[in-house]
Amino acid sequence: MQTDLFSTGQDQEEPEKRAEALRRDLARYGHAYYVLDAPIVPDSEYDRLFAELQALEAAHPELVTPDSPTRRVGGTPLAQFEKVTHRVPMLSLQNGFSEADVAAFDRRIAEELGIGKVEYEAELKFDGLAVNLRYEKGILVQAATRGDGTNGENITENIRTIRSIPLRLLDLAPPDILEVRGEVLMFKEAFRDLNRRQRESGQKEFVNPRNAAAGSLRQLDSQITASRQLKFFAYGIGELEGVPLPETQGKMMEWFMQMGIPVCNERKVVRGLAGLMKFFGEIGAKRDTLPYEIDGVVYKVNRRSEQEALGFISRAPRFALAHKFPAQEVMTEVTGIDVQVGRTGAITPVARLKPVFVSGVTVTNATLHNEDEIRRKDIRIGDTVIVRRAGDVIPEVIASVPEKRTADVREFVMPVECPVCGSPIVRSADEAVARCSGGWINCPAQKKGGLQLFASRKAMNIEGLGEQLIDQLVDKEIISDAADLYRLDRETLSGLDRMAEKSADNLLGELDKSRQTTLARFLYALGIRHVGETTARSLAAHFGNLDDLMQANEEQLLAIDDIGPVVADSLIRFFADERNRALIGKLKACGIQWPEQTVTEKPVVSPLQNLKFVLTGTLPSLTREEAAEIIRQYGGQVVSAVSRKTDYVLAGKEPGSKLAKAQELGIRILDEDAFLRLVKHDENN
Ligand code: IVH
Repeated sequence: MQTDLFSTGQDQEEPEKRAEALRRDLARYGHAYYVLDAPIVPDSEYDRLFAELQALEAAHPELVTPDSPTRRVGGTPLAQFEKVTHRVPMLSLQNGFSEADVAAFDRRIAEELGIGKVEYEAELKFDGLAVNLRYEKGILVQAATRGDGTNGENITENIRTIRSIPLRLLDLAPPDILEVRGEVLMFKEAFRDLNRRQRESGQKEFVNPRNAAAGSLRQLDSQITASRQLKFFAYGIGELEGVPLPETQGKMMEWFMQMGIPVCNERKVVRGLAGLMKFFGEIGAKRDTLPYEIDGVVYKVNRRSEQEALGFISRAPRFALAHKFPAQEVMTEVTGIDVQVGRTGAITPVARLKPVFVSGVTVTNATLHNEDEIRRKDIRIGDTVIVRRAGDVIPEVIASVPEKRTADVREFVMPVECPVCGSPIVRSADEAVARCSGGWINCPAQKKGGLQLFASRKAMNIEGLGEQLIDQLVDKEIISDAADLYRLDRETLSGLDRMAEKSADNLLGELDKSRQTTLARFLYALGIRHVGETTARSLAAHFGNLDDLMQANEEQLLAIDDIGPVVADSLIRFFADERNRALIGKLKACGIQWPEQTVTEKPVVSPLQNLKFVLTGTLPSLTREEAAEIIRQYGGQVVSAVSRKTDYVLAGKEPGSKLAKAQELGIRILDEDAFLRLVKHDENN
């Protein structure tokens, strides 16, 4: 045995054996961490063993093997990808879009097999890229893209960077040859992170996770791929030698798992059409909460013998069907770009689209946000564009398709006058948005927006005063400001479209009720720029009455927590404007009032100062609003999403995914009792 010049900590062991043992252990620990999400050793232990293996390999380069975890990120970038011919072609799937399609598929199979209820394995249809991983004697030797199904590209170096893909199978007696097929994908969170980084470094953003995954796999420099946090799910098999094929698709997936190959847990063995449709419904319901994107589900006849009996049609197996969800992304044409005027005068360009059906609804227009966004996405009138609508999300134009551009497209030009009131449109140098300079007095669009905010639930909470009613009241010049609302009578109201005497009475009742309000609500209802609900609450708590706030100077305003120069400036301008002061006077004259608040001198101790809370589920006695109020009162902050920066999660009944996330991140979880104790306890301190 040769003598080592350095200590591996295991001097007695031969380096070769030690390296082998390290590789095996590191593969197991890596699998537990990256595939099972359940680490079995602390990170520090992994790092220690990894460093030991690195040192060992540096001293004995002949010991480096292709499955060594130190080889995940390769050396020099490739000049180009080599071609790979698949030994077993990579097929595609037949598609179905409706229950009728699924019924026809199931009927045909039942008939051909001559059995009543066919057994299927139902899986997700991942929206990523199909790859083939080739293992020889348990070692990953090659990875290739699907390409045209016959020829793909050799992307082994890139695939090696995907931490959840084993470089060696965990099986001690692996098959001589095993080709695993599956999908490489980018999870939604990694996609958002990547696009944020792209944006911050001034690079082009990716349109969707699929494109981002594709772009990441296509890198000739595997260092870039390594930085992209890709994942893999297996779902099929190519060449296999040395062991028999598992009898069913379900058993094959379990076998993959045993070998340390990642498979998705969202799969089920089901029977007959009813079983298929039930799975489709269940997955459809949770689609938006999955951490990755899918575009449907896949049904596969479970038994291998039955799969083989069914054979193939052209390039797809007869035994499988992809049941697709309605598309979330479609192509259509921009027929024009109009502008809308918002409450603050902000001019928002809106794309008029040739109607398209996307995610179950017909979309005819989509916001383009602002002028810069149009230039950044390079969207022109007449362009073919990709429109996306995921779940309940508002439709969005995500990109133009320049390949489809014709010579007669036109660039968008920001109008010089407000389309509603004709006042000049201005854009200050430091803002992305252009604004109508008319103000709410002159511009009906701004007036309507302001009134909608005034009536909204978190402001004056006037139920029944919706957008259409406000439109009528402004258009017919029945009202010219919020105070006029309180002078409406039954006769005028019941004469309006879609209003009867009963609804008029209800609205009058609501208006009357709204006269008793709080200072915070009133401030928010005024629609002062940059003064949202939270700021309004801080201002009310600080000043206790409106007069003091109206007279406050910049210095006094800046002394308040969370009030910076922009908000202070906006408040001063608002209260300096005679028209706003007149409106406030009129509103008070209409009987709007609030209890004077005794100014809560900033508590000497704010026990929850700077602590971030997330609320989830239903609490036994406090409402969410009340709990939030307590948190804020004691200096804490309520945030909506759980992240590493969250200090506490206050959880009630049916907490959902936020609780799971908190547990995953090891964030402290409180029930209502513990929360109240925390506040009480700290109060005594
Ligand atoms: S099986 C023999 N299972 O769909 C059929 N494919 O059109 C081979 N895909 O390129 C495919 N999820 O990228 C199968 N659970 C799944 C899948 C899946 C996504 C993709 C795959 C392939 C395409 C077939």
